Formats: sequence, structure tokens, C-alpha cells
Amino acid sequence: MRRPLVAGNWKLNGSRAENARLLEGVLAGLGPESPCEAVVCPPFVYLDQVRSLLEGSAIALGAQNLSAEASGAFTGEVSAAMLRDMGCRYVIVGHSERRALYGETDELVARKFLAAHSEGLSPVLCVGESLQERQDGITNDVILRQVNAVLERVDIQMLSSSLVAYEPVWAIGTGQTATTGQAQDVHAYIRSIVSAHDAKIAAELRILYGGSVKGSNARDLFAMDDIDGGLIGGASLDPADFVAICKSAHP
Ligand code: PGA
Repeated sequence: MRRPLVAGNWKLNGSRAENARLLEGVLAGLGPESPCEAVVCPPFVYLDQVRSLLEGSAIALGAQNLSAEASGAFTGEVSAAMLRDMGCRYVIVGHSERRALYGETDELVARKFLAAHSEGLSPVLCVGESLQERQDGITNDVILRQVNAVLERVDIQMLSSSLVAYEPVWAIGTGQTATTGQAQDVHAYIRSIVSAHDAKIAAELRILYGGSVKGSNARDLFAMDDIDGGLIGGASLDPADFVAICKSAHP
């Protein structure tokens, strides 16, 4: 049985005051026992604040990115060990905004995935096609390339403590969610790619959907066989919406 996970990706948003208000609403709405595994991923500078606000709660801490390097002369970077030191359990790797806006290649994404594992963090590996790629009918080719770029460089056993997030680029922040059928098809395909390496690990792998998930559409998406929760951007900044999404995810 795969326990669903819902992660809030706050992106470049928040302030000390806003974070406190947001988490107050989320913690009150979720109650002591979250129905799913809930995670929030604030900007680096707020990790410590958010960690203390989450103390004693069921919500785990994650980061939005990390360096592929362990330490040294890499100005502006944050390492896996630092994230672990700050109490992170999860880290998003290869988000499409990192790939598109900051030039992260498949190879760099794989190195970040390895860096996360080297410190015992669970990476959430993001994959997804652009609108053009979907229209060209090459969605599966893109997904295969992105997933295999990691699988070829890591020990398959690492997938048993990792997550994959399918986030069609055209659905991120656009209000245009993939249909449940479109999402399920790609999720099943991702599971089959992993299954070709190890069927048991594939069966246990949690695959999240991301891209304009809201309280109003989460339940239908999460009801699909191969959708094991969500990676939530905009709606994770609204306590009522984030709580509604978490409550839509149960085993
Ligand atoms: P969105 O973002 O929910 O705002 O579409 C999802 C994501 O980028 O992870």
C-alpha cells in the first residue's frame, strides 16, 4: 500500500509573517493526524523558521532545490548536508522551472538526485513535457528520457526512498490541469519504466501529480490508480485549499 503524499512547493513566496499565518491555518485545518503524508517546501532562508513552526506536528519539511556539490567554492549554493542539518526529509529535484529558467540538464538533475541520497534525503524527481511536446505526440519519449537519465546514473535501490512527480509544464501555474486520464496514462507509463528495472520497487514507488491541483480537482486525480498524491504550487499558499487537497488524499 502506497501512503499518499502531498507536498506544498511555496516557490519564491513568503515572509516570516506570511509563513506563520499560512502554517497556523494549515495546522489548525489538518489537525494532529494528517490523512496523508504532508510536506511543505519553503524557500531556503525560511527552513529554520518553518522547522520550528512545524515542531510536534505531522507535517514534514522539504526544500525546493539543492546543490549537486557537497561543499567548497560554489557561491550561492546550498548542499544536501545543510538541508539535512536544517531538518529536511525531502527535496524537490529537477522542477521544470529549474530546468527551463536555470538551465538544469538531465545530467545535473541526476547528480542532484545522487547528492540528496548521499545525505539520506528523499528526492522528489520532477518530470514532464511541454505543450509543444504533447502536441507533437512525444510526451512518452520526453518522460522516458527524463526518467532514464536518472535511472542510468543511480542504483535502482535508491528509488525505494525517492518519489517521482509528473508535472506537465503546460499545467503548471496555468489553471489548466491535466485530465485524470492524461495524468493516469503518464503515471502508469512512469511506473512501467521503473518496473523494467525492478518490479517491486516500481509497485511501491509514490508518483505525485503536479500542475494546477486545487481543492476542487484533487479528489478525482488522487482517485486514479497510479496517482499517489500531489506536488502543489499556487494552492499550497492558501491554507484552506492546501488542507482540502491533503484531505482528498487517503489510502
Ligand atoms: P501549480 O505548481 O500547482 O501552481 O501549478 C505546481 C508546481 O510547480 O509544482
